[in-house]
Amino acid sequence: MTAPLRVLVTGAAGQIGYSIVIRIADGTVFGKDQPVQLVLLDVPQCSNVLEGVVFELQDCALPTLHSVEAVTEEKPAFTGIDYAFLVGAMPRREGMERKDLLAANVKIFKSQGKALAEYAKPTTKVIVVGNPANTNAFIAAKYAVGKIPAKNFSAMTRLDHNRALAQLALKTGTTIGDVKNVIIWGNHSGTQFPDVTHATVKKNGNETDAYSAVGDNAFLQGPFIATVQKRGGVIIEKRKLSSAMSAAKAACDHIHDWHFGTKAGEHVSMAVPSDGSYGIPQGLIFSFPVTIESGEWKIVQGLSFDDFAKGKIAATTKELEEERDDALKACDDANI
Ligand code: NAI
Repeated sequence: MTAPLRVLVTGAAGQIGYSIVIRIADGTVFGKDQPVQLVLLDVPQCSNVLEGVVFELQDCALPTLHSVEAVTEEKPAFTGIDYAFLVGAMPRREGMERKDLLAANVKIFKSQGKALAEYAKPTTKVIVVGNPANTNAFIAAKYAVGKIPAKNFSAMTRLDHNRALAQLALKTGTTIGDVKNVIIWGNHSGTQFPDVTHATVKKNGNETDAYSAVGDNAFLQGPFIATVQKRGGVIIEKRKLSSAMSAAKAACDHIHDWHFGTKAGEHVSMAVPSDGSYGIPQGLIFSFPVTIESGEWKIVQGLSFDDFAKGKIAATTKELEEERDDALKACDDANI
């Protein structure tokens, strides 16, 4: 029998947590033949909610779910895990300055980075969903170094990637399966660059580049980019809550593809530590197009940029460098 995978979800009492756990437990992420031991972590104040989630998962009667436990401490959460979905983070409260938010999250992700190093398997793979996702992943990786390689840390930009696919399909009157190879460059924030230069669309049996399929460059360099960048805010306006179903689905897509690999001829967007590709500073957790084989991602090489793209990539790089520097300063200031 296949050995179970031990999978941690943090922030499991939250709204993304509620949508994500069922997909991990029912085989959507790791396959219908792969048993899973699910570990749910949240803060002690949420222990009752967490218990309710455990009860519901038990009531789902899922053959792939071999065990599920609720914990409120790091040691039992991180011990022996194969995958970590780091969803829990400090939300921005009214009146909170950006630097206070960053400092609060640095504290959480420094502690979780250390816990990963101490208790998790050295092969553990990590997706950070909690915002600011790229910088939180940078901090967790920094404090797990020596035990878990930086390449095992990633942040989620798959939701932005999926949003770009959906917008392209809507604009061209096609379906998601007809659209591929969009790219999200940079930060999961308003500076991200959703790029369709290398995307293709299949319409009436013919596959063409996205620019030809859309036939409206101004749209692709204007409203398309803004829609993807601002989608999260629009969802909050409408739902009075942030994206949860789509965020959970994207996190599951991210880990599914990391586990099983990308399809031939296709890449996906994943924020991973830069190796200097495309001039992005080494170590910055930056969203790139990647292909995945045997559990290892590779940044797609050799793509060309026009001046428009260069400007967008420079802006998101600058923002990520500033976030990284502020986060490092928060580590020093608070001596945490
Ligand atoms: P939520 O507020 O419903 O749930 C967050 C949960 O995390 C809460 O139950 C909270 O108690 C828990 N938590 C806080 N600190 C924790 C800690 N130190 N350890 C364990 N659990 C902790 O929030 P929601 O909607 O589930 O969102 C979670 C995060 O995901 C937020 O930071 C949000 O901004 C981010 N997000 C990221 C997206 C992306 O594309 N990267 C998309 C959508 C949301």
